[in-house]
Amino acid sequence: METLTDFLTARVGKAFAAHGLEPSLGVVRVSDRPDLAQFQCNGALAAAKQAKKNPREIAEKIATALAGDEIFETVSIAGPGFLNLSLRDDFLAGRAQDLRADSQFGVWQAADPEKIIIDYGGPNVAKPLHVGHLRSAIIGESLKRLMRKAGHEVWGDIHLGDWGLQMGQLITQLQIEQPELPYFDEDFTGPYPKQSPVTLEDLARLYPIAAEASKLDEARKETARKATAELQAGRPGYRALWQHFVRVSRIGLEREYRDLGVTFDLWKGESDADPFIAKLAHLLEQRGILIKSEGALVVPVAREDDKKEIPPLIMFTRDGAVLYGSTDLATLMDRKQAIDPSRVLYVVDQRQNQHFEQVFRAAALAGIFEKHQLEHIGFGTMNGQDGKPFKTRQGGVLKLRDLIDMVRERAAERLKEGGIGQSLSQEEREQVAHQVGMAALKFADLSNPRMTDYVFDLDRFLAFEGKTGPYVQYAAVRLKSVIAKVAEKGVREAGPLLITHKTERDLILTLLAFADAHKLAHDKRMPHILCDHGFALAQAFSRFYAACRIADEEDKTVQASRLALAQVTLGQLSVILSLLGIDIPDRM
Ligand code: ARG
Repeated sequence: METLTDFLTARVGKAFAAHGLEPSLGVVRVSDRPDLAQFQCNGALAAAKQAKKNPREIAEKIATALAGDEIFETVSIAGPGFLNLSLRDDFLAGRAQDLRADSQFGVWQAADPEKIIIDYGGPNVAKPLHVGHLRSAIIGESLKRLMRKAGHEVWGDIHLGDWGLQMGQLITQLQIEQPELPYFDEDFTGPYPKQSPVTLEDLARLYPIAAEASKLDEARKETARKATAELQAGRPGYRALWQHFVRVSRIGLEREYRDLGVTFDLWKGESDADPFIAKLAHLLEQRGILIKSEGALVVPVAREDDKKEIPPLIMFTRDGAVLYGSTDLATLMDRKQAIDPSRVLYVVDQRQNQHFEQVFRAAALAGIFEKHQLEHIGFGTMNGQDGKPFKTRQGGVLKLRDLIDMVRERAAERLKEGGIGQSLSQEEREQVAHQVGMAALKFADLSNPRMTDYVFDLDRFLAFEGKTGPYVQYAAVRLKSVIAKVAEKGVREAGPLLITHKTERDLILTLLAFADAHKLAHDKRMPHILCDHGFALAQAFSRFYAACRIADEEDKTVQASRLALAQVTLGQLSVILSLLGIDIPDRM
């Protein structure tokens, strides 16, 4: 749907144009003094500056023009020339009627739908998924959903870390433990065993040992580096072993992402860029931007006007291996060829900002994408109570699996303490605990502007009061039961919307602000704007429901209108929660 503020802006813009002023001065937004007016327009001030006139005089002219427009209840001028606008109830009710007719309850539609790839998740094979990957998954999933709803064609790509030094480290560690395996025998001609020599548990055990050894012992690191280069160069035994690592890892990853409610359209990895490396190197050479530096081959990306130094992107190390930057660059070539998106979004920790700056600049220099087509959607860290990135009690990185289990258990306790859902069967109760736990975790993560760090505080996240996932989720469940209760009384037919009470008007105004919130969340790539809206909607409904009867309202037209209002609110809240990746239990 067109946003209400865009609709009003066009209207007010015409009034400016009628006085020979720029129509773009008529920008209308929601008032920051809702006690004075619903909307405001500050354009008269800018117009006065342009025309070197008195702003109040201009505001008066515009106000007079708008006063003749039947949609406005009041048009007044405040201060030096701010226009305060409020709409007539019948107009508001009519717009809300359009919402009722809209199967999407007012989502915003992009004027020019694009093809977009969102790269989020980024777990590394053989390393357990940790909470650092959690934000990427939660924010990326939400952005994917809200961009799709806006009409874009969107691909979510997990971009597995399956090609780096950790692969060489694992190979060498396994060779130390089981040197007799055929993968290490250079004379072996195959076929290699179908059965993986390692399980997920083996990988979880092997990787920390290998990483530690590499850290302590320069020779071990060298061997791992060499193994990585040989794997990338195509040594058959290493490739066969690596495939087992990837497959085994993927099974665990799929389970964890499924529990989080996060899905990907593409399960590609860094290794999928391999077939593009040679072509990429050729292209870079042709353009004269592949330079020898200390035995490595690099792409210089620094610019004269850089405030801080941006080091070159390393394309090949001295042993010919590719690194994180090279695979990201080659992946862009793959994406260009396979999908040709107009935009690629990387939802990755803000601390990787420099890496993406290097990759984006190199991609532009190589002519693969223009820089503005590539966006790093950074985010801050989730911290522990000590203000440092969240760790377990033992000081280690918390695994996602453990986090999900912990959240679910705490949610179950919370439900029990609050006496919620206790009439459900054991199985349903577990399901609800999972849904509430995920709502708590996701909403807590998404409701902060993404660049801010936040503190992991499960008890606060799980509260049923305040701006939390469980509060908004519970509001939706309650709406379902309100509607069911009305139906029990035999009232099933909703009717045209009327405004008979202030809380109805406020609820309708909130409902009508959804398209604005969706658009803004989309344009800024900021899901917290949707959280704000969802919370405001839940609150507006709760104030309405406290003040207005539905089930036992005597006036049948008013009752039918209120039922319609409840239905639209539930519909819109359901859309919002789905955009945040939050499920709504049937009952609690
Ligand atoms: N695997 C990386 C990490 O764990 C994240 C990958 C993000 N995506 C990308 N295209 N670089 O840090």
